[in-house]
Amino acid sequence: MKKIGIFYGSSTGMTAEVAEEIAKAMGVDTADIHNVADSAPSDVEPYDVLIFGSSTWGSGELQDDWFDMVDGLEATDLSGKKIALFGCGDESMSDTFCGALGELYTRLLPTGAKFIGHFNADGYDFESTEAFQDGIYVGLMLDNVNKEDLTAERIKAWTDQLKKEIA
Ligand SMILES: Cc1cc2nc3c(=O)[nH]c(=O)nc-3n(C[C@H](O)[C@H](O)[C@H](O)COP(=O)(O)O)c2cc1C
Repeated sequence: MKKIGIFYGSSTGMTAEVAEEIAKAMGVDTADIHNVADSAPSDVEPYDVLIFGSSTWGSGELQDDWFDMVDGLEATDLSGKKIALFGCGDESMSDTFCGALGELYTRLLPTGAKFIGHFNADGYDFESTEAFQDGIYVGLMLDNVNKEDLTAERIKAWTDQLKKEIA
């Protein structure tokens, strides 16, 4: 049985809520849901699968609480672990939508972790995003500002896919 940990950064609670929904769908215990504001990079150690969530702020940037965490993680060997990314944004910010996922991906790629949970962005409405890297959307992009009605089905589709990738 693979051990799954969820780590999220959230300023107004949107990504925190989504983290809980993903945990329910994946059968992850609440003790394994971590706010990165209260986490250290070494907290990822016990997990085989890391689900990382960040909302996007500024102009395509990571949620603030991630700054120190990513600095520490990018200096860590995560080979053998799998990472899946999700985040909340606002697709009307049409060239920075969920850009934080792109930053997590590019900065953590050198850790040796395998990235899973790539996503099909059909049905979205934005121009471009840093979350599109190496020919793929690197994680689950959610818009609870304009498209909250689609969030539950998007989480279900993504977590169904993740379960297959983890098995
Ligand atoms: C000042 C400000 C800047 C934002 N910048 C972006 C952005 O560049 N790209 C994006 O997709 N969303 C952006 N957003 C939208 C937030 O990511 C969105 O509201 C998200 O749901 C917040 O999630 P959180 O409560 O988990 O932090 C911005 C929101 C605000 C208020």
